[in-house]
Amino acid sequence: MSFYEAVGGEETFHRLVHRFYEGVAEDPLLRPLYPEEDLTGAEERLRMFLVQYWGGPNTYSRQRGHPRLRMRHVPFVIGTAERDAWLRHMHDAVESLDLPKDLATRLWDYLVYAAHSLVNAPEGG
Ligand code: HEM
Repeated sequence: MSFYEAVGGEETFHRLVHRFYEGVAEDPLLRPLYPEEDLTGAEERLRMFLVQYWGGPNTYSRQRGHPRLRMRHVPFVIGTAERDAWLRHMHDAVESLDLPKDLATRLWDYLVYAAHSLVNAPEGG
C-alpha cells in the first residue's frame, strides 16, 4: 500500500492543503507572495503535487510537467522567516488530520526537508 493510500487518499490531501491555505490566506508575510488573487489554483497545484509525490495519481506532472520545485520558486523571495511561516501553517494542517503518529511524522519530516530546500534568500531577501 502506498503512503497515499495509507493516509486515506485524495480526501486526506484535500483536507491537508485546504487547511494550509486557510492559514496562508490570513498570513501577512506569505499572502503577498502568491501572485493570484484567488488561492484556489495554488491550492490545487500543491495538492496535486503532494498526491503524486506520495504515490497517488500523477495528474500534477501530466498538467504541469516535471515539478522542478526549486526553479518554480525562484520568482518568490523565500528567506527563513517565509519558510518558518509556511511550516507553521503546514504543521497546523498536519495536526488537523489526526493521523497515526508514524504516518504524521513521515509526512512532517518530508515537509520540513522540502521547505528547507526551497529557501533561496537565506538572509530574508
Ligand atoms: C507554488 C511559496 C514551500 C510546493 C508556490 C507559489 C508560492 C509558493 C508563492 C506560487 C503559487 C501558485 O502556484 O500560484 C512557497 C513558500 C514556501 C514554499 C514561501 C516556503 C518554504 C513549498 C514546499 C513545497 C511546495 C515545501 C513542496 C513540498 C509548491 C508547488 C507549487 C508551489 C507544487 C506549484 C508549482 C507549479 O506547478 O507551478 N509556492 N512555497 N512549496 N509550491 Fe511552494
